[in-house]
Amino acid sequence: MKRKIAIIGTGYVGLTTGTALAYLGHKVICVDKNNVKIKKLRRGIIPIYEPGLDKILKKHHKNIDFTTDLKDAVKKSEVIFICVGTPSKKDGRIEMKYFHLAVRDIAKEVQDYKVIVNKSTVPVGAGEWTQKEIKKYYKSKFSVVSNPEFLREGSAVKDFLEPDRIIIGVEDEKAKEIMLDIYSLIKAPKIITDVKSAELIKYAANAFLATKISFINEIANICERAKADVKKVAEGIGLDKRIGPKFLNAGIGYGGSCFPKDIDGLIQIANYKKYNFQLLNAVVKVNENQQKLFVQKIKKILKRVNGNTICIWGLAFKPNTDDVRKSPAIEIIKQLQKLNYKIQTYDPVAVENATKELPKKNIKFCKNPFEAVKNADVLALVTEWPEFSELDMRKVKKLMRHPYFLDGRNQFESKELKKLGFYYEGIGRR
Ligand code: UGA
Repeated sequence: MKRKIAIIGTGYVGLTTGTALAYLGHKVICVDKNNVKIKKLRRGIIPIYEPGLDKILKKHHKNIDFTTDLKDAVKKSEVIFICVGTPSKKDGRIEMKYFHLAVRDIAKEVQDYKVIVNKSTVPVGAGEWTQKEIKKYYKSKFSVVSNPEFLREGSAVKDFLEPDRIIIGVEDEKAKEIMLDIYSLIKAPKIITDVKSAELIKYAANAFLATKISFINEIANICERAKADVKKVAEGIGLDKRIGPKFLNAGIGYGGSCFPKDIDGLIQIANYKKYNFQLLNAVVKVNENQQKLFVQKIKKILKRVNGNTICIWGLAFKPNTDDVRKSPAIEIIKQLQKLNYKIQTYDPVAVENATKELPKKNIKFCKNPFEAVKNADVLALVTEWPEFSELDMRKVKKLMRHPYFLDGRNQFESKELKKLGFYYEGIGRR
């Protein structure tokens, strides 16, 4: 059955959710306070870089509308998805003001039965708070649901339409039926649970994935000392079905707008419950250390060749996105800038965002990967964009002053590069 749905917040979660629900045949109204953004969206202009989203939006535009009028959207909808940002505060605590504001704005407009679905990543208990808050304004029946998202930037549309599972935290039958109906066309296991468990599932999933990354990065560091190969170790353990092969790529650590924020968030949630989450504290330290070790490697090479020019390939926190939030690349460049080295960098799409994050000192943003390696004493790859694998590495070597190649994402194989005359070093490789 087609449902009438309002989406509050048109960030990448809100926009993907709204567009994908329109694709599934529901009637969707996306709400945002930013008038400029809404006007653009009405003209089909998407403010984020998310492959496939524009095509679906164009094809299913009849099912989706964009507005700044929250009151009207709530009035016209039976189900309201909250998709607002919950960023980290400076001390790692979760910034809940946008979420609180959204709930209060909705609460004031509720006049008949509504299902209020939360997709924002919020601490355990936010659903309970939502319930109490809406009751202050509206006395009849309504339902609060937790339906966390597991979308990855760069593959958000696919992740929404072909998920590993759908989590529905719900406390009553009516809302459960409506939620199952909304997702009826998606073939995936649907886990029905209580609201608090659903809220925690989101944090636990991200924390576990980050733990896997820090774990393999520590194994990589041992591999370097023992002259073993982390790729083979990862393959060897990953084939054990209990472990699984994914998220075992060693490198310079995780970044992005989700893992660092959610790991800090879960540590704070634990602290609040008077529990010291020792393992997660270590996960964060290992991640930070991974970037420091990479900077040390660069320093060592520059000292050896008596040089000071570094080429950095990649700025985004991972390939296929222009997002540089908490990108290991940004952290590494900042550390190198403090050491007064000269940086030449290239990224296919993230340069504009990176210029806003980085100090202007000693840095040149280049138009292509070749310009970035020109006269460099060392090439450091920090984001594994597929286009790097296609490059003429012979030409790259010729352009460099010294052919040192530090591969922070193990994108290349040492054998071929050594044949070309590079001094190649990956992370945890022989
Ligand atoms: C992550 C989760 O994967 C999503 O399921 C979740 O919905 C999302 O956060 C969120 O909370 O909204 P995302 O931040 O888009 O998605 O990126 P990932 O693909 O998970 O990568 C995160 C970081 O880990 C990247 O910096 C990546 O380079 C790094 N990574 C990933 C590794 O260093 N090694 C790996 O093996 C995998």
